[in-house]
Amino acid sequence: MRNVGKLAIVGVVGLLIFALPVSAEEIDGQWHAMFDTPAGVQTYHFDFQDMDGKLTAKAVVESADEMRDVEFEEAKLDGETLKFVELRKFGERELRIEYTGKLSDRGIMFTRKIGDFGSQESGATRDIPKPEPQSSAPVVKVHLDRIIKDAYKDLFRVGTAGDFPSRYSSEELQLASEHFNAVTPENCMKPERVHPDEKTWRFELPDALVQWATDSKMSVHGHTLVWHAQTGDWFFRDGDREVLTQRMKDHIHTLVGRYRGEIQSWDVVNEAINDAGNEETGQTENLRDSKWLQTLGPKFLTLAFKFAHEADPDAILYYNDYNIESGPKHDSSMVLLKRLLDDGAPIHAVGIQGHWTTGRVPYEDIDKAISDYASLGLKVSITELDVTIRGASGGQFGGGFGRRRFGSREPASIEDLNAQADAYAKLFAIFSKHKDVIERVTFWGLNDRRTWRFGQHPLIFDANNYPKPAYAAIVNEPGRD
Ligand code: XIL
Repeated sequence: MRNVGKLAIVGVVGLLIFALPVSAEEIDGQWHAMFDTPAGVQTYHFDFQDMDGKLTAKAVVESADEMRDVEFEEAKLDGETLKFVELRKFGERELRIEYTGKLSDRGIMFTRKIGDFGSQESGATRDIPKPEPQSSAPVVKVHLDRIIKDAYKDLFRVGTAGDFPSRYSSEELQLASEHFNAVTPENCMKPERVHPDEKTWRFELPDALVQWATDSKMSVHGHTLVWHAQTGDWFFRDGDREVLTQRMKDHIHTLVGRYRGEIQSWDVVNEAINDAGNEETGQTENLRDSKWLQTLGPKFLTLAFKFAHEADPDAILYYNDYNIESGPKHDSSMVLLKRLLDDGAPIHAVGIQGHWTTGRVPYEDIDKAISDYASLGLKVSITELDVTIRGASGGQFGGGFGRRRFGSREPASIEDLNAQADAYAKLFAIFSKHKDVIERVTFWGLNDRRTWRFGQHPLIFDANNYPKPAYAAIVNEPGRD
């Protein structure tokens, strides 16, 4: 009898754990699967994006001796079935690997057919398969005698980004709330996720994040309201100036209004300035040719700030962008911000994203940019900080979605980790110097697994949640005292 009782309990618990069916709408983002092959285990870190029915599928693949990027071909989502093809070259030969995934209550059940050689099966889940025990030891053991959020508590908040708590392990959630006192949703509040269609809102993940942050005593920074990327095409469909203004207003009023008093600050407009620039464009706003600009003209920014302020008069409102600390793009940002202030736009702060690379961090530019923005009466946050160890940074959407080809095939070396630690320490010295202007410094991800720059080791915890030398260097940086 007893055993039957136990079995029943296990059964119920099992059901609770696995009873979350994956629907086609929930496909976006990262999935992880391990294929046991004759050449050893291969872990696929998939990234799927379904944009209005057009599916893109990519992966970073880890195996014992290499790490490679894959862009899949012929990706299709048909009802509950996902299909795509991997073309792999072996010398002269090209192998066609066909993947078929069925959405189920246990994740995505994949079968892959490898040319004429047979097939393999594996279930992809949101959780990353546990690493092999021998690979889980950190390269260097780092002893912490201070927690980062405490070390900087009198200067500014220290944040992390992610769609917490959904699909994070309890260890990761504990890590996030122990070390950080602010959170930015990495994807779940972006227009295409939270408002995929005019009449469809998906508040489940955002609501859960706000609740978790409140319970964990963390502030929430909303990201992001008006952007050229990750925004459904429906916004712009058959839309003239009036229709698009109304859609922008409804979007902002509904989202900002829902979390009034619970979300303390918002990225109102994201990445509106062009990348390419020269002395001439530096004299102008040099706005990106987005659909927002095409339909509404440069005043789309003023409107967005006005709507956000109407929806929550107490929220701190940000203009957020990357590479705005340097060169002509910095000059353009100053022209734009002055115009917004002259227009009476309720803008309070600037977000410098901070996607940098060890060896190429523009320290002097960052220092000066913070002073420049402060001279306009604006606050500043570093909103998406990560400093990669190797490979091309700057990493924006020009060359694809986030994951670029990276040179790293091995774990980080001690030299690389130390160079990264120095870079982080120098950055935090600059932020500390500007403590009266800086509101918050937020890392873009939680650890070297939970990062859009997977493989480039950009954060302060490694893939197994061990603190890296960068963490110790930041908390020992004397500027914080
Ligand atoms: C990235 C996320 O980290 C990825 O998971 C997603 O696939 C693409 O977007 N600038 C931004 C962020 O403002 O929203 C981007 O986040 C990184 C660049």
